[in-house]
Amino acid sequence: MTQAMTRGDQQARNTQGVLSMRSGGYYSERTAGARIAINNALPMVRAALPPAPGAKEPLRLADYGSADGGTSREMWYRLIEGLRDAGDHREIVLTYTDLPSNDFSTLFRTMQGLQGDPAFAYQKAFDGVSVHGCGTGFHSQLFPKDSLDFGFSATAMHYVSETPCDITNHVHAVGAVGEEAERFAAQARKDWERILLARAAELKPGGRFLCVNFGIDEEGRYLGNTGGVQMFDMFATLWSEMRDEGRITPEDFDRATFAQYYRTQAEFTAPLLDETSPVSRAGLRLVSAGSRHTRCPYEQAFAEAGGAMSAAEFAANLVPTLRSWSETVFRTALSGRPAEEAQSLVDLFYRRYEDRVAADPAGHAMDYIHIVLEIEKTSV
Ligand SMILES: C[S@@+](CC[C@H](N)C(=O)[O-])C[C@H]1O[C@@H](n2cnc3c(N)ncnc32)[C@H](O)[C@@H]1O
Repeated sequence: MTQAMTRGDQQARNTQGVLSMRSGGYYSERTAGARIAINNALPMVRAALPPAPGAKEPLRLADYGSADGGTSREMWYRLIEGLRDAGDHREIVLTYTDLPSNDFSTLFRTMQGLQGDPAFAYQKAFDGVSVHGCGTGFHSQLFPKDSLDFGFSATAMHYVSETPCDITNHVHAVGAVGEEAERFAAQARKDWERILLARAAELKPGGRFLCVNFGIDEEGRYLGNTGGVQMFDMFATLWSEMRDEGRITPEDFDRATFAQYYRTQAEFTAPLLDETSPVSRAGLRLVSAGSRHTRCPYEQAFAEAGGAMSAAEFAANLVPTLRSWSETVFRTALSGRPAEEAQSLVDLFYRRYEDRVAADPAGHAMDYIHIVLEIEKTSV
């Protein structure tokens, strides 16, 4: 057995206690691309809702893996606005779900217009809307059986419930090889089935689940890998430089393993297309599947500014969006060190990324690739 295999072959680590986006609104304020991808899904969300304006029952909605709620807020606002304008005054219960480590406090404050831009504080703007929170992971059933009208999830279900091993040659499953790559694929397969079975249980018959998830498209593209510099390779390069300089240990390097797996469309749809699978037998059917490319808004602004934006400004805009969701991985890898030391190493890591972009901005971007799945629960 090679040294690398020995290092990676430790016990699976449950990620649910430690994984989180940066709090205090940092995540959504710096993640314009995620907001754009969600806003683009609004027509599909509208089409998925049961048309029952006269119904007495509240409309029960869920936003799975919502983070601080800032990126989906406008979409939910516009949806509710459209319903009210159309004379649909059903009470609405919108439950945000995320991990226990999530910053739910910012979420509740923003929806009530007590924090950030109050423009889309829909709870304040419309009557009959209740905002609830659920801090249990989406691999479990979260609502009573047959109770949910519509579930939505954006950019969240690529997180695996546990890292099956450290990745020793890279930081992400997209760069993993051999047994480590296979273990991630197997974990993601198992997790996806759990996610779907949980949704099958809680959705009402006829209810829909719209999943706008990170994945790998038919051209092999994925987040930060749509031509030009590959973002996860850049993370791995900078992190390994810090190891080779002796700033972090080889174990620190290995521990920085994203608890993520980008599924292909075929991996997403497999349990839905197999009529004998537990998922199909539980009543889920695929309505549609496709991929979506969302251009990196920071790179686009830089390109459109011509000479009016410097490379340093572009770097200072781009790197925080990467940092908003990736920092926990590198921080957690250094959790054995005093907090200040760990923080300054992480700061150095992102400063180096920024310096690289500022020195040569060509090809740097974080374009989004989503696999979009419309799923329905049939009556079984
Ligand atoms: C990149 S953020 C996406 C947030 C938001 N949906 C968006 O599209 O901008 C991913 C979110 O998924 C959450 N998450 C990861 N694993 C989860 C799990 N097992 N259950 C619930 N939420 C999870 C993370 O905590 C994080 O808030």
